[in-house]
Order: sequence, then C-alpha cells, then structure tokens
Amino acid sequence: MKLLFVCLGNICRSPTAHGVMMTLLKEHGLDDVMVDSAGTAAYHIGKAPDPRTQAAARQRGYDLSTLRARQVTRDDFYDFDYIFAMDEDNLADLQGVRPKDAKADLHLALASTQGEGSSVPDPYFGGESGFDTVLDLCEKLSNDILVQYVKADLS
Ligand code: 4NP
Repeated sequence: MKLLFVCLGNICRSPTAHGVMMTLLKEHGLDDVMVDSAGTAAYHIGKAPDPRTQAAARQRGYDLSTLRARQVTRDDFYDFDYIFAMDEDNLADLQGVRPKDAKADLHLALASTQGEGSSVPDPYFGGESGFDTVLDLCEKLSNDILVQYVKADLS
C-alpha cells in the first residue's frame, strides 16, 4: 500500500505527516506500507523541510532532515492508493488535476479525525506554536489513517 500526503509547499505540513506516519507504521511492524509527501506548488522543490518544522518534529523524536520537497505529479494519481490533502485548498487543487481514471482515492487528511472540511492550518507565516499544532494534528490523523485505511485494507 502507498500513501501520499500533499500540502502547498511540501516543507511544513505534509513532511510532518510523512515523518509521523512512517514512524507509526514502523512501530506497528508495517514497514512495507510506503509513505511519501509532495506539494501542489513548485516554490520549494529540492528543499529540506522548513527549519521550524524540523525543530518541532525533532523535539518529539521525528527526524525529517532527509526529506526533500517535490511537486505532485500526474503519475502520483496512478502510483498511490491514497492521497491525503492537508487542507481544503490543497484538496481543490488536487481535484483539479486528478485524471478521470486515477487509481488513488483522494481525501482530506483530517476528515477521519475531525470530520469533513477539517484542515491542518498552514503554519508558514505564523509563530512557533503553529508547528506544534501541526504535529498534534499529524499524530492524530496518522493514528486514524492507520486504523481506518491501513489496517482496514490488510484485514
Ligand atoms: P506547507 O507550508 O504547505 O505546509 O509546506 C507552506 C510552505 C511555503 C509556503 C506556504 C505554505 N510559501 O508560501 O512559500
């Protein structure tokens, strides 16, 4: 199974979800589930996660330093089983480019946790606390994705 998290820049929210989900899968012995992340925008291609994102993640034991930003591609809709958008703008952008015969199911990442329409707020232009909020939400949504998608598909 392959999971893709998508935000705008792929340097704050989706790399956080990527790192948290990978750690959780490893803890559950599910290393064969593949996780990746991407951005709808091209601004930060090739860059490591934002230093504030990395610092907040490191405080909770997640190492995001090896991740590099990339832009979502048409092929992603055929390669991945599930694509999770971090907010409603990301979801709308993805719906706009999703090929009609795409394999991937497209969802809001927080929908299982907080209901339809729930977004992970963009921390990029805000203060430090926004990065902790992103981590709180990514820990919740990763647990819910593990139960509602990964374990459900394996059973
Ligand atoms: P992300 O955050 O989508 O969570 O990676 C952002 C990163 C960069 C920008 C906006 C949001 N930006 O405008 O450069």
